[in-house]
Amino acid sequence: MLEATVKKILQARVYEAARETPISPAPILSRRFSNQILIKREDLQPVHSFKIRGAYNKMAQLSEAQRAKGVIAASAGNHAQGLAMAAKLMGVKAVIVMPRITPEIKVAAVRGWGAKVVLKGDAFDAASEHAQELVKEHGYTYIPPFDDIDVVAGQGTVAMEILRQHSGPIDAVFIPVGGGGLLAGMAAYIKYLRPEIKVIGVESEDSACLKAAMKAGKRVVLEHVGVFAEGVAVAQIGKVPFQIVRDLVDDVITVNTDEMCAAVKDIFEDTRAVSETSGALSLAGLKKYIQQTGAEGQTLVCVNSGANTNFDRLQHIAERTELGEQREAILAVTIPEVPGSFKKFCRTIGKRMVTEFNYRYADEENAHIFVGVQVKPGGEDRQAVIERLREAGYPVEDLTDNELAKLHIRHLGGGRPKSRFDEEVYRFEFPERPGALMNFLTHLPQDWNISLFHYRNHGAAFGRVLVGMQVPNGDRTHVEEYFDKIGYHYWKESNNPAYKLFMA
Ligand SMILES: Cc1ncc(COP(=O)(O)O)c(C=O)c1O
Repeated sequence: MLEATVKKILQARVYEAARETPISPAPILSRRFSNQILIKREDLQPVHSFKIRGAYNKMAQLSEAQRAKGVIAASAGNHAQGLAMAAKLMGVKAVIVMPRITPEIKVAAVRGWGAKVVLKGDAFDAASEHAQELVKEHGYTYIPPFDDIDVVAGQGTVAMEILRQHSGPIDAVFIPVGGGGLLAGMAAYIKYLRPEIKVIGVESEDSACLKAAMKAGKRVVLEHVGVFAEGVAVAQIGKVPFQIVRDLVDDVITVNTDEMCAAVKDIFEDTRAVSETSGALSLAGLKKYIQQTGAEGQTLVCVNSGANTNFDRLQHIAERTELGEQREAILAVTIPEVPGSFKKFCRTIGKRMVTEFNYRYADEENAHIFVGVQVKPGGEDRQAVIERLREAGYPVEDLTDNELAKLHIRHLGGGRPKSRFDEEVYRFEFPERPGALMNFLTHLPQDWNISLFHYRNHGAAFGRVLVGMQVPNGDRTHVEEYFDKIGYHYWKESNNPAYKLFMA
């Protein structure tokens, strides 16, 4: 079986459509982890993922009669684009059934290759069912995304290139897993030629269908599949891939959303490529492998398997990155509601990069602060910050691993105070750099109690802060004179309807 698969890989027709992608060294990661880390750049394919290889090879094996009738697939992602491109190059009609929720950017990309898009159903299953109906009705040939030996063989050419391009020793290759097509092709080729190289599958924790199958000794259907990494959101490992990989892979590693986001950033920093979350999956697994095994001085290869991400996803990815790296601690701290206590608290934190600061006057005794602080990875530094705050007498709740806090509460902090008081609200902008927030606080007037404070580090050149202060009537003009003097850019927001409706 192994030899037959390798023969198919060697004979696969992919280069009329796909290009031989380079392997990029990752110098920053390599230094950081004391291993030589290499990234196979499948994001550089014309459809920005490896999927063109399998789709083109499968189509190249069809008979003239099959091609004349046209091809079809159900897919919301990279397979759709791969197939659409392959069909265009061969002059074959392609129909792609996509769930109605598919982002417009992907629909447009598929249409751009000349394929017909049918939007059907709210989820993948309904689209897939409809595709099967159209097969019966029109005699199209269904092109599967992973469960097919010719698709597997096409994907296997990624490994063929890696072994040719890097002739020196390789200790392990890390491969992302959705339905297992890429892993099966690559594992077969690597184990046939260089059995000493470890082959490690990497899955998202939310769709770890290979791990489940390996454990059960047979393919299982996952009850729930998370779609954050939609490229690999598959409930059951493919039949053909599982037959091939079950005895070939050395290990299957799973990673979480935050770890994938952190890997997106790592790839960006080393290559300036922006990958999709599935595209960075294998690097996240590689990093975990180093952490778990203590590997040093090894040559480790991963695959940037795709870069079809929506631009507006990047904000979310960036936000989760610091957490994935364990570089941000999210803490809820209670401080006494007295003038000056806010600044005292900031001094206790020390000269650390603050990523977020959320505070709203609640009652006369205590205030709850939601704070994000940059820490060194590994957890020890986070613990040190917490200890330091506790020693200074502050009750601290560590929310770093709290999904509710990370997804929702951080955006909801605030609300209306229980009793009415005179409050003026100002929005500020100041040049961002470490210590800038503390500097800003030091310049705030000491006489007025801070009743609202919201700061988020946006990774931009400017820090933005919203401050509410309890200002007695007679002092109002002084406040602004003072602000003019200290020279921070500010806007008065006390009459802004958003403030009046939700916070006043
Ligand atoms: C970017 C990306 N990476 C990895 C995969 C997983 O490939 P496979 O389904 O062959 O396991 C996919 C599948 O679509 C993908 O789009």
